[in-house]
Amino acid sequence: MIGQMLRHYRITEKIGAGGMGVVYRATDTKLNRDVAIKVLPAAFAEAPHRRARFEREAQLLAALNHPNIAAIYGLERENGVDYLVLEYVPGESLAEKLARGPLPVEEAIELAIQIADALDAAHESGVIHRDLKPANIMVTADGQVKVLDFGLAKAFADDPAGENLSDSPTLSAMATREGVILGTAAYMSPEQARGRPVDKRTDIFAFGSVLYEMLTGRRAFQGEDVSDTLAAVIRADVDWNPLPREVDARIRRILEGCLRKDRKERRRDIGDVRVDVQECLARPPTSSRAASAAENPPSAASRPILLWAVAASFLAALLSVTLMRSARPDVAATSPRMRFQIVLPPEHSLEDVSRSGVAISSDGTRLAYATRRQIYVREMDELEATAVRGTEGGHTPFFSPDGDWLGFWGDGKLKKVRVDGGTPVSLCDADRPSGATWGDDGRITFGQAFQSISQVSENGGTPRVLVKLDEKKQETAYRPQMLAGGTAVLYTLATSASLNWANAQIVIQTLGDEGFERRILVEDGFSARYL
Ligand SMILES: Nc1ncnc2c1ncn2[C@@H]1O[C@H](COP(=O)(O)OP(=O)(O)OP(=O)(O)O)[C@@H](O)[C@H]1O
Ligand SMILES: [Mg+2]
Repeated sequence: MIGQMLRHYRITEKIGAGGMGVVYRATDTKLNRDVAIKVLPAAFAEAPHRRARFEREAQLLAALNHPNIAAIYGLERENGVDYLVLEYVPGESLAEKLARGPLPVEEAIELAIQIADALDAAHESGVIHRDLKPANIMVTADGQVKVLDFGLAKAFADDPAGENLSDSPTLSAMATREGVILGTAAYMSPEQARGRPVDKRTDIFAFGSVLYEMLTGRRAFQGEDVSDTLAAVIRADVDWNPLPREVDARIRRILEGCLRKDRKERRRDIGDVRVDVQECLARPPTSSRAASAAENPPSAASRPILLWAVAASFLAALLSVTLMRSARPDVAATSPRMRFQIVLPPEHSLEDVSRSGVAISSDGTRLAYATRRQIYVREMDELEATAVRGTEGGHTPFFSPDGDWLGFWGDGKLKKVRVDGGTPVSLCDADRPSGATWGDDGRITFGQAFQSISQVSENGGTPRVLVKLDEKKQETAYRPQMLAGGTAVLYTLATSASLNWANAQIVIQTLGDEGFERRILVEDGFSARYL
């Protein structure tokens, strides 16, 4: 082919080959510019209905005009050969970059923002990529991303109505090369791997896989062969251990949100994801360990410590317990230790400790406390706390995992409000609060004195009772925290006899249909947090 003319395009070199055909670099001799020519497989030409449909798809794709999307210039036919004329993107593919190992965190995030930008623009136009993977992402020498092959997967699909594995060009009948198929399978969404219909959330999953790989240098899902890989996509949990220490906890949460197997639980808007990733660049990163530590309020142990002088008398009694540390090697205490005092204005006295009057956002950048029958938030880069509009009469604050929402109690209800204030949203009735945690899975676990530990969706609804307390013994469950994917709950158990908290117990209780098992982890302690 090299040196040949296809119409006015002179083929100059072969760039690569994938599931859909061979890609050449060529010179457009009329416009005197470089283009990429993707020669489509011969089988393509033999199915006119396919070509007609491909043409319609190509028209749609040609309408996409975005700096991070490689343009389609045309679909041509010459001597029985069909080929696409594409914007030529100099540089290397992300697949080639990643072959050398993980990217520096900042570079990975900058590329991720551009990839998300491209997807956002396409989704806005109703186009789903369906085959997002490092081989389809070019990075120019000056760091600009160009996403290739937008929507071509669909154009190649065998059955226009049905959505099936052939949605992936490389798994279509045309593909024979094992390596290429494997390269595509690893970035499929679970619904794609199962041959189910796809929507834009499929791209969000692939985006998560690509970002994970940029940060770790490893594929999020990898098997020895195609079926193993597909099985991993469908079932395997992501291994978070390879995530470098300096990766912001917020990035990990974004990844978790993108890589949810059930797309109903997955992030559903790549534009929002992009904004969240951008935030991580804008606000200085905290490591996931720093964030976990910050989630743990005052502690007297030798971990990263936040010591609140204002409440020293009761804080001294607090015990920090790090559970299952060995099972979570990624939480080794390596973040810089911080000690500081926060002196509250004289008119602000903290709430009773049994109501957990203080909360810290998981990234450590915000502090909330209840005082004067209202909740105040202090951004840690500011000197003063401000009253949060909408929390009048509220107490017992706690943060959402992203730190942008405050949960709190008021008027016998569990409520939430945006940290910057607004109209509070009532989530459910809740009486005599005894602490709450807001899980990454969007569920809030909360205690009600002498009654129960319950869970409610962050969007509100009827709470589900997880643990019933023994009323006769006047048991109180304080600061419950859900563990291990919802199979156990950690909490402080006190009875009326131990209400000074100093001799309460820290317990873990497994949850299940066949009753429960309560184990005492620590005698004479309270307020444990799983980091
Ligand atoms: N427009 C382009 N500009 C520059 N290089 C390109 C262009 N399109 C493709 N390439 C290069 O050619 C290689 C092969 O692309 P091709 O799309 O055929 O296969 P693939 O991306 O590996 O698999 P798939 O068929 O699933 O997309 C790419 O990895 C990329 O390096
Ligand atoms: Mg490609």
